[in-house]
Amino acid sequence: MSSKDLSGNHHHHHSNDENGTTTTTITTVTQTNHNPPLHQNHLNLFNINIRAEFAHHDPTIARINNGSFGSCPNSIIEAQQRYQLRFLEQPDDFYYNHLKPSILRSRQAIKTLINANHVDEISIVDNATTGAAIVLQHVKWCFFENKFNPGDTAVMLHYAYGAVKKSVEAYVTRSGGKVIEVKMPYPVSSNDEIFEAFKKALELGKSGNRKVRLAVIDHITSMPSVVIPVKELVKMCRLEGVDCIFVDAAHAIGSIEVDVQDIGADFYTSNLHKWLFCPPSIAFLHCRNPELSNLHHPVVSHEYGNGIAIESSWIGTRDYSAQLVVPEALEFVNRFEGGIDGIRKWNHEKVVEMAEMLVKAWGTNLGTPLDMCASMAMVGLPACLGIKSDSDALKLRSHLRNCFKVEVPIYYRQPKDGEVDPVTGYARISHQIYNTDDDYYRLRDAICNLVSSGLTCKGFQD
Ligand SMILES: Cc1ncc(COP(=O)(O)O)c(C=O)c1O
Repeated sequence: MSSKDLSGNHHHHHSNDENGTTTTTITTVTQTNHNPPLHQNHLNLFNINIRAEFAHHDPTIARINNGSFGSCPNSIIEAQQRYQLRFLEQPDDFYYNHLKPSILRSRQAIKTLINANHVDEISIVDNATTGAAIVLQHVKWCFFENKFNPGDTAVMLHYAYGAVKKSVEAYVTRSGGKVIEVKMPYPVSSNDEIFEAFKKALELGKSGNRKVRLAVIDHITSMPSVVIPVKELVKMCRLEGVDCIFVDAAHAIGSIEVDVQDIGADFYTSNLHKWLFCPPSIAFLHCRNPELSNLHHPVVSHEYGNGIAIESSWIGTRDYSAQLVVPEALEFVNRFEGGIDGIRKWNHEKVVEMAEMLVKAWGTNLGTPLDMCASMAMVGLPACLGIKSDSDALKLRSHLRNCFKVEVPIYYRQPKDGEVDPVTGYARISHQIYNTDDDYYRLRDAICNLVSSGLTCKGFQD
């Protein structure tokens, strides 16, 4: 397979205007598999030097895994460092006069971004894991205080994030709740398959006089990655009278439109360090009804009892700087044409183009239809690589990092009985503004190289 097989060309144009400011325009010419029409997409990066903003990235690595840890441009790192220094210069002044108002500024910015009703609905926490812990501890107390009965159920997707599953185990199962996993097919072909599986799980959850007390619904699942029709699933849960609907949207903000009023869940958490360019780590937890919800932060400090938003704003002495730079992150994205919407549309278009290029080169298929993707796509790997377990998938990932300088997570899927030459491995590719087509060509060529040399997972070193 040579680069002649490619369906797209990618050009970076750098030009200097009169003031010496660099303006970068990325122009992509895409030709779809269904032949013409040829169309052009642009993302104008006004006055932004992308390479300088991400100069701290290891230049030897093709990083096509924004999904795991996100990324943070230099201008935001600098803003964060200014806050860190201000604290160190005069901690007492910072604590008494600046910390609370600065956190409030970030909460207000998030409120607007996600179309919340009131800033009191927004808490800032460390990450989605903490957001989940807050909600699940609340469920635990409902069992302890006999608001829920032993044997009542929690419904969650089989593809819920591993750490969140552990949290459900720690708080819900241990309190006497029963967990029902929604079995979703993979590869998935439509939202209808998800609705059907979810409906079945809800039926099972309320069978035998039990009540479904909690639903955990991912907005974008991690592995395999699928955009879940959350609004419809929330509606389904409401009709069934589910007490507590929690959306784990760790990947959502910055990669998909988020309107919490429209989605209508009780609790919704999303990281800002994944797709909104904030430094590690910051997430918001949206609570539809903060006064009635009785949520508490798992780390108890002075603000206990003052509402989850205020409790979360002081959980002891620590570095709060990542929570303060939300306005600067929005300033950064607003330097792009179309702001964050422009960026996510661009990332979606590019990840689609790159995914199509890869399946064509490898003769495989996509695991998730492209209209169920945001800024990540699942690209089938050639069956001859012999991926037969989660540990094989991890070995391939390490091999790609160590031998080819490509960073991409690999998903293993167990084949169904009778599948011939099944695709059992999928590369989860991400696209973020710092990526270039060459990053994906490197992955393409690495896999082609393994295929032509007859190497399989058995041959990789642990
Ligand atoms: C669906 C989902 N939930 C939760 C998390 C946890 O995010 P964090 O490690 O930032 O808490 C992730 C991270 O990838 C995720 O994909």
